[in-house]
Amino acid sequence: MSSFFTNSLLLWNQAVNRREMPWKGEKDPYKVWLSEIILQQTRVEQGRDYYERFIAAFPNINALANAPDDTVFKLWEGLGYYTRCRNLLASARFIAYQLKGKFPDQYNDILKLKGVGPYTAAAIASFAFSLPHAVIDGNVVRVLSRVFGIAAPISDPAAAKLFCTLADELLDRKNPAVYNQAIMDFGAVVCKPRQPLCGTCPLQHDCEAFKIGWVDKLPVRVAKPEKRKRYLHYILFHHDGKVYCRKREAKDIWQNLFEFYLHESKRLLSSRKLLSAPFFTEMLQGGNYKLLYISPVFKQQLTHQQLSGRFIEIEVDRKPEGLDGYLAVDENRLSALAMPRFILSYLHEKNVNLSKQKAGIKDR
Ligand code: ADE
Repeated sequence: MSSFFTNSLLLWNQAVNRREMPWKGEKDPYKVWLSEIILQQTRVEQGRDYYERFIAAFPNINALANAPDDTVFKLWEGLGYYTRCRNLLASARFIAYQLKGKFPDQYNDILKLKGVGPYTAAAIASFAFSLPHAVIDGNVVRVLSRVFGIAAPISDPAAAKLFCTLADELLDRKNPAVYNQAIMDFGAVVCKPRQPLCGTCPLQHDCEAFKIGWVDKLPVRVAKPEKRKRYLHYILFHHDGKVYCRKREAKDIWQNLFEFYLHESKRLLSSRKLLSAPFFTEMLQGGNYKLLYISPVFKQQLTHQQLSGRFIEIEVDRKPEGLDGYLAVDENRLSALAMPRFILSYLHEKNVNLSKQKAGIKDR
């Protein structure tokens, strides 16, 4: 269907849109898939470098499939939402070994890949194979809800159906790749969440939200449930130039990433409380320790969780009890392990402070 919307969008794309991204126009399904998985929960600006590094390290699906897990996790480090990385590896291996390296080229087969939902399947099907599937992500919902004045949240099944039907009707079937990229770019550059560029928008006179002054009210958002609060106390047990670390295996955040000894509690504990707690006394079994460092409180927001915690570094004269399954990692080799951002922020801050101290620079 050729509509005012599609025509205006494509015209804007051709005449005005100068947004550049390394995956734009890409046809190799491996590269399209990789970029879309990275962009699922990551902003374009942050995702760009990761995409380039992944492509340099693993130029094709076989290279990624044959890479050791820890190498891939190390490269993913800092991007968060590590389920994406696990699914990426599982799908790469499935395609390389079960499908003999041939990336699925039909929407329904693409949708079966781990970590690929309807949005990502539509993106891959259209970008890599020019199949007529319209993408519906946050950008698209924002643009459509404003231009067509849809005041129902996407979480409402009837509204979701309406967005799907509308998106499908508006799609340029002759060139779904260009159209899909154009609507995403338009949502990111013009019809932005805050301070959209209505003054220069080519759809201004057709936009229902603009006509009634509802641009900042649409799309309708539903209240988010309160985040679970977690309090993490990391103890870095140092012994003979090594620190005890382990890989997180449990079905929880940060699966497959490395961490130090963790004591989690219902509230934030002072270092004094922590070091006099029964679990700590039991771990030391009467051994001596020297307190090296107590960090300030670190915080991080995840989608459904709010993390706070601190890091305590101590030197022990022997391996504490309760560290079965932990590795004694050389202090200088910690950066080789993939760790969660929460821990990396601490290690980074500590390194910055240490180098300032070495250089004789005092914090004001
Ligand atoms: N977000 C998800 N996919 C994207 C793409 N191809 N371009 C820009 N932003 C995106």
